[in-house]
Amino acid sequence: MAIKDLIYGSDVDMVAEQELFRKASEIKTLLETERGRKALSGIFTKDDKFLELFLGESTRTDLTFTNAVEELGGRLHPRLWKFSSMAKGEPMSSLTHFCEGVRYQGLIMRHDGEEAEALMREALATRNKKNYQIRFINAGMGNKEHPLQKLKDTFTIQELFSNELLHGPQTNNPLRILFCGDVAYSRTIHSLLAVGGIAQYGAKIWMTSPEDNQLPDSIRQALLKHRVEFSELHVPLKDAIESAQPHILYLSRFQFNLRKEWGGRSQEEKNKYEAWYANMVGVTQEVLNIAPPFMKILHPLPQGPELPKRVEDNSRAAYNQQQGNGVPIAMALLIMMFAPNTDLHLLHQDKHVVTVHARTDGGTFSMPSEIGNISRLCICQGGCGNHTGQCTAVESKISGTWGFVSENDFQSITGKGKVFCPQCRPH
Ligand code: CP
Repeated sequence: MAIKDLIYGSDVDMVAEQELFRKASEIKTLLETERGRKALSGIFTKDDKFLELFLGESTRTDLTFTNAVEELGGRLHPRLWKFSSMAKGEPMSSLTHFCEGVRYQGLIMRHDGEEAEALMREALATRNKKNYQIRFINAGMGNKEHPLQKLKDTFTIQELFSNELLHGPQTNNPLRILFCGDVAYSRTIHSLLAVGGIAQYGAKIWMTSPEDNQLPDSIRQALLKHRVEFSELHVPLKDAIESAQPHILYLSRFQFNLRKEWGGRSQEEKNKYEAWYANMVGVTQEVLNIAPPFMKILHPLPQGPELPKRVEDNSRAAYNQQQGNGVPIAMALLIMMFAPNTDLHLLHQDKHVVTVHARTDGGTFSMPSEIGNISRLCICQGGCGNHTGQCTAVESKISGTWGFVSENDFQSITGKGKVFCPQCRPH
């Protein structure tokens, strides 16, 4: 199941999401061993190039994608918006032409401004009009959506409460989730609440936020249209927990960076507001005392005073598990988008196997003219029944086909991805 772009949470339907989670679980296991990591690093080649363009601060999302691409053997070029020509007013269409011209496979973009969604749409329209290959990943789009975070959050919830999430509606014990904080501007909450979010599993939803901090009406209307059970409250967190008895408490910091009206305000004003906010929707000792013992706390991070540091020692804190899931989730996403025929099961076998997406009509490559175009070598040392000794099949990156080179030439090719060729691959 392939995913074309990831702009909204709904771009990955429930079936694709579950497939992505299975892959992420396998990747987590593979990442634990040197052998597994080596095998994963053969899935991409250095021709699998990504541009990462960020306007807005980031630790997790930026480094998650950097690590994910690197672990798969590809290349990621990071560029801050302010050091790109976008800061000089270059249109998104022009950037899209450039990306296609230099053969970026994907553009990973974060933009904290109100125009973020329009820019993404412009890029998509340019790609579609010109029939380009470039694909797009939203890494945080204004106050709209953050679909990678949604995948990471739902995967973590499934690890913590798989029965309630997957079978809850049938067993009359659906997952109960309480969103707390800046429901007006938190794009991670929006992605979990939007169509294709947590409600598709039959979860029961509560939210609590300050009175002047309302859920965007478009999301409210979509929840109503899809007959999702939800309650919007404006009460202190402890009262909301007493009502909801949630499995998951999902917190959000106050999103100063996404709110224009806070742009010119002093740090003192911000601190004062944050202290009030933390008092209403923060995890105090009183909140921990009355919370059900099974409840787990998630937070997309970075945290503000609503999530004091001491909470990380509480058994309910699950946000470090949540952020740790970022890299395997991003790797699973990249595989589904850019190497959809990869069979991760084979990577667990004794031989380090990567399923390649190449045609098998190869002939003999003439060396050395083809040498620069060779992307992968067959690693079979014999025993497949097709040859004795080292297989000399190589894959050309231009045509994506497999052919053969002389043994001498084969020995001279170094530093290429090593996989089984289609003839030698065990089935
Ligand atoms: N959750 C998240 O998007 O974190 P960063 O802002 O650090 O990327």
